[in-house]
Amino acid sequence: MKIPKLIIHGGAGSLEGNVSKKEDLRKSLKNICQLTYKKLLQTDAYSAVLFGICQLEDDPLFNAGTGSKLQNDGRIRMSAGIMDGEKNKFSGVINIQNIKNPILVADKLQFEKHTIIAGDKATQVARDFGFQQYNPLVQKRWDEHLRLQKGKTGTVGVVALDKNGNIVAGTSTGGIGGEIPGRVSDSPTVAGNFANKFAGISATGIGEQIVNSGTAVKIATRVEDGMDLKEAVNKTIDDAKAFNYEFGVISISHKGEICVDKTTDSIFYSWYDGENIDVF
Ligand code: GLY
Repeated sequence: MKIPKLIIHGGAGSLEGNVSKKEDLRKSLKNICQLTYKKLLQTDAYSAVLFGICQLEDDPLFNAGTGSKLQNDGRIRMSAGIMDGEKNKFSGVINIQNIKNPILVADKLQFEKHTIIAGDKATQVARDFGFQQYNPLVQKRWDEHLRLQKGKTGTVGVVALDKNGNIVAGTSTGGIGGEIPGRVSDSPTVAGNFANKFAGISATGIGEQIVNSGTAVKIATRVEDGMDLKEAVNKTIDDAKAFNYEFGVISISHKGEICVDKTTDSIFYSWYDGENIDVF
């Protein structure tokens, strides 16, 4: 039996210069971390990750689900991925529209033959599954769009290790904001979100750079090949620093280690190790 472990993040750059938001972000993250840990104790890593991501998607403070940023044509296109380490299975949606919780559509795809669906077809598949039309736009994001405010980052993620030793990672995003319509972020790829039997990782930061680094899958492979989690994470982040990349990761190993590292300061995260909860 393992002691369940949990870590969640609210994205790099979620503050975007607005220092007054800092305490609200930390408070929400800590609350969601506590609720999600309770779920993890009652259920398993997969259910806890779905639950935690839904909470983060539903909080307009974060750039995922409700409160997602707009692409430069004024439309919200969201992406999400979930990976079950035990099953070695990834599923995700790319640039889905008018859905409340993109991660729940990714969850449905876990049980399908074709597990990653993009664009209009992703939205159609969601409707076929029975997901209702939902407008995730909030006023603050519309105002940012009217100001032509370009973003850089913003994502949410949850990684959990359950009592049976299974690791699951989930990541969801509204993208960077002001991007070319149809741009694909790292979140619905194995660079931004990955789990195997050895480690689970969720990344946040500039999606193109996370993809260039193959970040999440690289860390998990390094741990599978014998590196400690901290060593694997630090090495991957050091490699990224050499390119001046801007991103960070949260991660958990099969040994229950929790590790965060980043090339940029602006990541908000919270973890629960079974005894202590902390928020940064
Ligand atoms: N990491 C989020 C994005 O680049 O879209």
